[in-house]
Amino acid sequence: MAFINENFLDLKENYLFIDIAKKIKAYQAENPDKALIRMGIGDVTLPIAPVVAEAMKKGAEEMTHKETFKGYEDSGRGYEFLREAVAGYYRSFGAEVDPGEILISDGAKSDCGNIVDIFGENNIVLITDPAYPVYVDSNTMSGKDIIYASSNEENGFAAMPDDSVDCDIIYLCSPNNPTGSVYTKEQLEKWVAYAKSKSAIIIFDSAYEAFIRDETLPRSIFCIEGARDCAIEICSLSKTAGFTGMRCGYTVIPKELTAYDTDGEPVNVFKLWCRRQGSKFNGVSYPVQCAAAAVFTPEGLAETRKNIDYYMENARIMSETCDELGIKYTGGKNSPYIWLKCPNNMGSWDFFDYLLKEIRVVGTPGEGFGPNGKGWFRLTAFGSKENTIEAMSRLKKLLK
Ligand code: MLT
Repeated sequence: MAFINENFLDLKENYLFIDIAKKIKAYQAENPDKALIRMGIGDVTLPIAPVVAEAMKKGAEEMTHKETFKGYEDSGRGYEFLREAVAGYYRSFGAEVDPGEILISDGAKSDCGNIVDIFGENNIVLITDPAYPVYVDSNTMSGKDIIYASSNEENGFAAMPDDSVDCDIIYLCSPNNPTGSVYTKEQLEKWVAYAKSKSAIIIFDSAYEAFIRDETLPRSIFCIEGARDCAIEICSLSKTAGFTGMRCGYTVIPKELTAYDTDGEPVNVFKLWCRRQGSKFNGVSYPVQCAAAAVFTPEGLAETRKNIDYYMENARIMSETCDELGIKYTGGKNSPYIWLKCPNNMGSWDFFDYLLKEIRVVGTPGEGFGPNGKGWFRLTAFGSKENTIEAMSRLKKLLK
């Protein structure tokens, strides 16, 4: 008889975006002639930059010649040319990271979900509420105890640590998905001090760092002194450079970072993760790594910047609409997400249905990201400018 991992029975029936996709499908089956404006899932819509596409083509071309063909990449950690490029990128915003502690991945979602493998079931995991569903789901799957740090209207949806609460693993995401809030340097310093006081490890999701415009805001946990002793950072090129369909990201684990076995003996986290990856991951394809490295060239950065600016203009249009309508929101200034309070005390799924039916706009119900998302709603800036303007004009007509 085959037995299941019963922790899976504790999961919600579907991953949030699958539930939303089902609702959309049902709506479209009933209303085949009505086009929808999608501002739900955080998927980019602009094509990858020309210099990045060229690098990928060149990489693919190299694969067709005996002399330049590549099989497995030896270390499984990613090509050095890419790790060097990522380290240079970190340096550009004031974080010192050694190429040797950068591990190339197929995106932030996989590493966020898989990192739980190396941490024991006896950990207490602190997750902000609301949060990207992968943190809760992957820790539920591996049977860990989860506690929550409240992000709410009062704290601007930027939960802060409570010294009286004990935990071992902490998930932070800044700029935050879903709330768009961004931690200041002082706030992250508090989290680092808290983590160190508990000998805990912060798993810092910086997938949206490229959307930070305010230069005083940290783009990496490694901009914070002391973070090397207590943090892992997971980042992605999905939103930065339009890689949702290409799949490439990176994880940084400082070489000195330790966690403990049950006898209290320190164990090197970097080595443990490499051991896990050695058995379960064979790396990212060569042409995609070539493309990723091109993102960090001066030309690549300038071209990808244009796309980010385009999305941030959408975010500005959305923020302006909320301001005009007197709707409370966070995000939109240093983040591609707008997290807004549903008008007239509507529930977030009710608001989802209302927008779908009345103005054919799809968003994401805040409740899908955790209980504190009740009554809140997420819109993304990743659509076209035309659609964003149209959606906001429909929203104004509907709510005025
Ligand atoms: C989201 O909408 O939150 C995104 O899909 C996150 C992701 O890239 O997985």
